[in-house]
Amino acid sequence: MHRDAANGARIAAILEQLRGLPQARLADLFAADPARAEAMTRRITWPVEPGSDAETGLLIDFAKTHLSGEALTAFEALAEASGFAAARAELFGGGIVNVTEGRAATHGALRGSGTAPQVEEAEALLARMGMLVEAIHEGALGEVRHCIAIGIGGSALGPALAIDALTRDLALVDVHVVSNIDGLALEAAFRACDPATTIIAVASKTFTTIETMTNAASALKWLRENGVEDPHGQVIALTAAPEKAVEWGVDETRILPFPESVGGRYSLFSSIGFPVALAIGMDDFRAMLAGAKAVDDHFRAAEGRENAPLLAAFADQYYTRLRGCQTRAVFAYDERLKLLPDYLQQLEMESNGKSVTREGAPVDGPTAAITWGGVGTDAQHAVFQLLHQGTHLVPVDFIASIAPGDDLDPAHHRILLMNCLAQGAALMAGKPSDDPARAYPGDRPSTTFLVEDCDAAALGALIAFHEHRTFANAVLMGINPFDQFGVELGKAIAKQIESGEGDFDPSTKALMAVAGLG
Ligand code: F6P
Repeated sequence: MHRDAANGARIAAILEQLRGLPQARLADLFAADPARAEAMTRRITWPVEPGSDAETGLLIDFAKTHLSGEALTAFEALAEASGFAAARAELFGGGIVNVTEGRAATHGALRGSGTAPQVEEAEALLARMGMLVEAIHEGALGEVRHCIAIGIGGSALGPALAIDALTRDLALVDVHVVSNIDGLALEAAFRACDPATTIIAVASKTFTTIETMTNAASALKWLRENGVEDPHGQVIALTAAPEKAVEWGVDETRILPFPESVGGRYSLFSSIGFPVALAIGMDDFRAMLAGAKAVDDHFRAAEGRENAPLLAAFADQYYTRLRGCQTRAVFAYDERLKLLPDYLQQLEMESNGKSVTREGAPVDGPTAAITWGGVGTDAQHAVFQLLHQGTHLVPVDFIASIAPGDDLDPAHHRILLMNCLAQGAALMAGKPSDDPARAYPGDRPSTTFLVEDCDAAALGALIAFHEHRTFANAVLMGINPFDQFGVELGKAIAKQIESGEGDFDPSTKALMAVAGLG
């Protein structure tokens, strides 16, 4: 919905009302409502297996956030004044939600949540990808033991996360995701792979990104120099610009396209997920889609505070706009999710790190918080000091799996989960002391996500949850989460440095001289 004078004034009044609400401490919110723990918990479920009646799912406990009943009512009014329901319908209905680039955002259609033609197109592309994945598994391209997946940003972070999370036991193909242009990254992959049995997956929506195309050219050279007669024959291109891949020398039969309307950071479920499917198999890849679809269904149907991604956005808006929090931390209490904070950084900061509204007007408050985080319990022994006693208020997300991923003594997983829950409890409860250095102020918020097991469906659900949380935040702020013009200027200046043509500031000129550039 466009912000105009009428709803702009209404939104300002709701925000003013929210600012005027008493800031109850978490302990008081629990004391006032004995049912708060349950009332602030949301569950999204899906069948354990396709067609099964038994359910598994994702539980999200928002009780340790400062959202009071009054605040929730006001945020529901904010969602309404911001046109949330219409924006959501526009998103799944294939409307032009990416207004600055005149595009729809059809990542939902990749898992069956979109208009019939979009879903049909996505299914056809998925079937094509599935055929290639299965052909490779069956040896149609000769023996394939390794895959070097080259991409960056949205063309690498999702595959890296999913492969790391889901191939702990066994990967059908050993995949190395390489993003950095620093040749050390590619060299490490070369050392781990045998050129004769390695395919190169070049993942780039635009097929022009300098880091990816340089790494891809070096990978071809490596194949050639190591006895592969037709290096291009071992390349698969994953792109929304198939014509560019053809120009670059990839055979059309080995190009897996995806629609232009799927944004880079929303593209894991498209052919960008090919290396994931290669590693885990199509059945598990489809399970990941099904987990995401369960969240889509919830997000499309649930209203107001019952809608978990929207509720998460209410908490995000509360902390950034009303409590001045500049960051939000995400801690994965599961080794399998250790790359999730990196993934969420791009999703949230590239989507909502904006300063203007959809109409191009300056925003009326802070936008995306800085997403940061790490893995528990490592982070507890490194950065949690600041969370417990520092001067910053940092809302924390804890993410854990009830079932362990390891086969060791169950003590490992029990200690992991105990620590996860203990941190949330400690941040909230605090502890007074006569010695100021030993006092914990407490009243520090957290949200806890629990999946029954960290399998493909749960990962798909977690990713879709955060996509929709990001979208809901954007709607509440009136911004477009689907463009990323902020990344372009640096790319243009890098080109100028390469060509030596450009009017550089004295500091950059001096650094160029020292670094031997230009
Ligand atoms: O520079 C940022 C960006 O455009 C991201 O949005 C994107 O995910 C990444 O670069 C990679 O782009 P591509 O897939 O076109 O190579």
